[in-house]
Amino acid sequence: MDHNDHVDLLCEGVTATDATWADFGAGSGAFTLALAELLGPGAEIHAVDRDDRALREGARRMARHFPGTNLTCHHADISSQLTLPPLDGIVMANVLHFQPDQNATVSSLRRYLRPGGRIVIVEYNIKRPNRAVPHPVPAARWTELAARAGFEHTKLLKTRPSRTFGEIYSAASW
Ligand SMILES: C[S@@+](CC[C@H](N)C(=O)[O-])C[C@H]1O[C@@H](n2cnc3c(N)ncnc32)[C@H](O)[C@@H]1O
Repeated sequence: MDHNDHVDLLCEGVTATDATWADFGAGSGAFTLALAELLGPGAEIHAVDRDDRALREGARRMARHFPGTNLTCHHADISSQLTLPPLDGIVMANVLHFQPDQNATVSSLRRYLRPGGRIVIVEYNIKRPNRAVPHPVPAARWTELAARAGFEHTKLLKTRPSRTFGEIYSAASW
């Protein structure tokens, strides 16, 4: 997948411009850059990850490709109490499948969102765990997790074939 695929997976869930978003488990920024493109110059994006090296790589890529984006990196565990402004949206791509307590993780993210805010996730649409995806979140499971955490209007956005694990999908919940 390249940058255009990342943008395409997010685009129907990211409509605001000049907004404040966070990328939880941002890694080296594949989806943070996609967010920057969709939100446009002036957007405020918070990238959160426990891998400081990956965050620094993401910050370098952002400065090179989207210098008009205000990026703040948070070297932290996503389950910790983060100091963030009220968010219009959260992206979490390829991260939830590492979290053993997904109910707690998803519920904890709600506190960061403004009323009307949304979460956009990207995950493999597989049911069986493997070493790289220890706690899979197929689309039906996301619908359940989101509802249990108090999100509404879950919508499957896009799917893409994955070379490694069948299919990757994006979904948004408000
Ligand atoms: C497979 S990578 C995905 C990176 C990026 N979102 C992407 O799709 O390209 C998973 C990322 O989640 C981060 N991560 C996993 N669990 C985390 C946690 N509990 N707190 C912070 N970061 C976490 C890892 O450090 C890693 O950078």
